[in-house]
Amino acid sequence: MKMPILQGLKDYIKQKNIRFHMPGHKGKDYLKIWSDEVCKIDVTEIPGTDNLYNPKGIILESQELAAKVFGAKKTFFSVNGTTGGIYAAISTVANPGSEILIQRNSHRSVYNAVILNNLKVKYVCPHYSQKDIITTGVNPTDIEESLRKHDNIKAVVITNPSYYGICSNIKEIASIVHKYKKILVVDEAHASHFRFSNKLPMTAIEAGADITIQSTHKTLPAFTQSSMIHVGTNNINIQKLSKMVSIFQTTSPSYLLLASLDLARAYMENEGRDKLNQIIDYIKDSTSYLKTLNEVKIIDSDNINYKDIYDFDATKLLIHVNGLGGFNLENILRNKYNIQLEMSDHLYGLALCSVFDDMEDIDKIVKAIEDISKNLRQRQIKSDKLNLSYLGNILNYIKPKIEIPLYQAFHREKKIINIHKSIGFISGGFIIPYPPGIPILCPGEIITSEIVEYINFLNSNNANVLGLLENNGVQIEVII
Ligand SMILES: Cc1ncc(COP(=O)(O)O)c(C=O)c1O
Repeated sequence: MKMPILQGLKDYIKQKNIRFHMPGHKGKDYLKIWSDEVCKIDVTEIPGTDNLYNPKGIILESQELAAKVFGAKKTFFSVNGTTGGIYAAISTVANPGSEILIQRNSHRSVYNAVILNNLKVKYVCPHYSQKDIITTGVNPTDIEESLRKHDNIKAVVITNPSYYGICSNIKEIASIVHKYKKILVVDEAHASHFRFSNKLPMTAIEAGADITIQSTHKTLPAFTQSSMIHVGTNNINIQKLSKMVSIFQTTSPSYLLLASLDLARAYMENEGRDKLNQIIDYIKDSTSYLKTLNEVKIIDSDNINYKDIYDFDATKLLIHVNGLGGFNLENILRNKYNIQLEMSDHLYGLALCSVFDDMEDIDKIVKAIEDISKNLRQRQIKSDKLNLSYLGNILNYIKPKIEIPLYQAFHREKKIINIHKSIGFISGGFIIPYPPGIPILCPGEIITSEIVEYINFLNSNNANVLGLLENNGVQIEVII
């Protein structure tokens, strides 16, 4: 019997990799509480099991418990991840044809919501640190400038924290957005755990956001796809949101996912808090040792400058080993040390730690990084030919040259051409290095020589770039 997916997963388990990647339960045993019941609790809406889209019983009770713990006025569960939650939230706050301000390095789901609702977009660009070669937070004054200039903007959508754990000054942003009587939507996909430790940044709800969407599965012990939508103020039309939540999800929501949301909240309310604080302290101690090594650079809360890095998620371990790009670091960790990172880029490897990591897991990655840096020193392994100033400059791509509005361009006729012949054409699709899932081109934007150069760079470094096609060389979709 051929079952390639199951086989692939079994192979991964067999390798006994230490998981510094999502989901937050890390494949550990907590969710086993009901593992004997897995098939039995996979039910549908029958008397006693309530209905996600008109909850009156157990689902309503669970959502209310979640709202209380997360400090929300109202919480909705999503079995279509934060992706579905973002569609629902944006569709609630922006009617078709209206204008919103979004962070340029928004996740793809925000862009999809723009297309789904025919929205006009204005962008706010995050900062970029030339020193650390990393995209940082958004400046509240940039948001204010946009709101001052563009009166038609209905809502502001920002991401906090970034995939790398970097936070903007969300409290100030909320206050500016409300000063202009607009709605603040926060993509908090990576922040479900913030609420459970005062060693972590404040949550968007605490900061005054109107609506926030969190991927519970990413950082807490819930199954993949399980997310929560929290409403923080009275500025949100709950009836409309409730309808939108049902539009963007399956009509057969999985009770396994819903039950895992229940479990994640219950666990964090109880023993989870202490465990999370312990692991945060342990990460801090361990990384302070790593930081004594000349070859290792760690981005953490010491990088907080209350400007472009306003705060930092202490469960993220962002590592650079001198002379080694992040992609290579990730490969070495996997192939030699059975450690799988969450993601890597040209420079950094990102280890996603969670309440479900053991101290030994942290010890192992620290030892591995120490080992790798020593080996590099001894063997003088050549780096990825990284040209950092090149990278720093090229990341100015975030100033897009928009020729046709995104939602119109998405529906226009297209053709496929070789990437080397594409300069000057208008992109027909999204080009997104994944991770971290930030578009370098959106439909309707002009393909410049810098962008082509950047795409070539990503390809030659084996980055996974979504949107590119392969047929006698690299190809790209352009508008006819
Ligand atoms: C910043 C950000 N927003 C939204 C999402 C979508 O979340 P989900 O996977 O829960 O649908 C992701 C997923 O990677 C993300 O990184």
